[in-house]
Amino acid sequence: MNPDSIRDVVAVDGPAGAGKSTVARRVAKTLGYAFLDTGAMYRATTWWALHQGIDLDDPAALAASTRAMDLDLSEEDGVQRVAVNGQDVTAAIRSPEITRQIHKLDGIPAVRACLVDLQRAFGAKGPTVAEGRDIGTVVFPKAKCKVYMDASLEQRARRRAADLESRGVRVDLDALREEIRVRDEKNMTRKESPLRRADDAILVDTTDLTLDQVVEKVAALAREAL
Ligand code: DC
Repeated sequence: MNPDSIRDVVAVDGPAGAGKSTVARRVAKTLGYAFLDTGAMYRATTWWALHQGIDLDDPAALAASTRAMDLDLSEEDGVQRVAVNGQDVTAAIRSPEITRQIHKLDGIPAVRACLVDLQRAFGAKGPTVAEGRDIGTVVFPKAKCKVYMDASLEQRARRRAADLESRGVRVDLDALREEIRVRDEKNMTRKESPLRRADDAILVDTTDLTLDQVVEKVAALAREAL
């Protein structure tokens, strides 16, 4: 599939905790576009590999298991549901274990190629808001609207902590901040599709903005571009 022909896309990239997922989902709803959470795909791939007992230090085995995986994304009441080979893994892929292990897969070219193909097939079906790390740089390089969402490390750690606490999870803010910092570094320095702002992406710094303000801003940028 020629990615240059897929243009009706709002590409939202940025580091962990910048608020991409919530914002992208709400913008998609506002515009009546489909929503694609590509991080969920890397998470599901990691879940599947662990579920199958694959050695996460074996890139060839990981590539084979990714190709053999049947990944299904659907939407139910505005929530993206993820199923792998018929099993609903929407909640399971959010576990800390998956978050810790994901970097073992997300730098493997064959794994990325397989998921990028699926992402492009999704985008080719109709107007889409897609969020991730390489959406504007690699997946949809001709997207009409590209946004790079960022916020200070401190603010991102605080938001993540509040989110976890609201779900009854006790958190250590220092540990969380360090975990996010390390994940940023891994995402930005990996050889394959590192996280970076596309030259034509608009930077949205969300540090001092409320969620509603960010949604409004991104939706306005999208309307203007599309
Ligand atoms: O957005 P998230 O936290 O669910 O993403 C989980 C991991 O997946 C993230 O640490 C990096 C990886 N990822 C990626 O490499 N490329 C993407 N387009 C999306 C996520």
